[in-house]
Amino acid sequence: TDGPLVLGIESSCDETGVGIVRGRTLLANVVSSSMDEHVRFGGVIPEIASRAHLDAIVPALREALDRAGVALEDLDALAVTSGPGLAGALMVGTAAAKALAVATGKPLYAINHLVAHVSVGLLEDSGVEGFQGAFGDGLPRDLGALLVSGGHTEILAVEDLSRDVRLLGATIDDAAGEAYDKVARVLGLDYPGGPAIDAAARGGDPTAFRLPRGLSAGKYMGSAQQPGPHRYDFSFSGLKTAVARVVEGFEARGEPVPVADVAASFQESVADVVTRKAVLACTEQGLGTLLLGGGVAANSRLRELTAERCAAHGIELVIPRLPLCTDNGAMVAALAARVVAEGRAPSGLDFAADSSLP
Ligand code: KG4
Ligand code: ZN
Repeated sequence: TDGPLVLGIESSCDETGVGIVRGRTLLANVVSSSMDEHVRFGGVIPEIASRAHLDAIVPALREALDRAGVALEDLDALAVTSGPGLAGALMVGTAAAKALAVATGKPLYAINHLVAHVSVGLLEDSGVEGFQGAFGDGLPRDLGALLVSGGHTEILAVEDLSRDVRLLGATIDDAAGEAYDKVARVLGLDYPGGPAIDAAARGGDPTAFRLPRGLSAGKYMGSAQQPGPHRYDFSFSGLKTAVARVVEGFEARGEPVPVADVAASFQESVADVVTRKAVLACTEQGLGTLLLGGGVAANSRLRELTAERCAAHGIELVIPRLPLCTDNGAMVAALAARVVAEGRAPSGLDFAADSSLP
């Protein structure tokens, strides 16, 4: 297909990503992660992530151009994540993008990381088997997004990717992936905790422990007519504490911790509250399509329950392929290609990396 040829850079957390698209066609998506270097600390260390981006950015750029069979001078535009994310990490990507823009004279577009996550749905062939893939010929007018990762947990209403995206709800404390990572530590499982808990939960009883569903009480939820203060918001710190209490109880009694049951019960709580609120938001806000994104979209129970509840409410579910769910440069390029095609002005060179970009 045709459309603008765009290179996108992502460096907001621990992934250095460079993606190249032509319109809605993905040509290359190179991702280099520094996760291995963070494992022994049990969390992403910003300074280490920034240095790793410095090491990885030029090789990733070369490899992406090589795989796409594209020369720098062929590009119509450059794009980069300007926020939200880790300040130092964002600075490496934005500095690299600005340097490229100066060197090549190509227009540069600053891209919002969260909106970029949704934009991968624009790419042809972005979906996995068993789920609907991309947004067909265009963006649905009634699109919702559920983003769940180590850094964010949000429900968005997307009227127009390049102009009008509303934040319906978000976590008021930990992100869902962060909760997975913290609970894994309590259970003595490896970091990152998501895959470890997902595996440990297999064979566990999800009803073994009744764990809290954050912000689900009436005073937070209200009603459709009179929404409470946190109707579409999330909280996972109480859940993390509840899991720690359960584990401490077993340890105090000198009994072995039933890891599979605790993991399954925890996983059920997260999947239940996250999918319940996302489906509620879609139903009440008239959003007929839901895109699931972020690293936690890999979670087996979350996928299962989202599919089940979306089907029950007549909501079309879009789950991108996993490499497109986690942080990558293709999503940045995909959004920029749309913005370029709409004829919008580039961002110039004087925008700043903004770690708390709304
Ligand atoms: O999107 P991502 O790769 O990076 C950012 O946080 O931006 O997401 C990483 C998060 C980690 O917290 C990890 O524990 C979680 O996604 N994760 C999972 C699974 N695989 C990764 N959480 C639950 N179940 C999984 N299978
Ligand atoms: Zn992300």
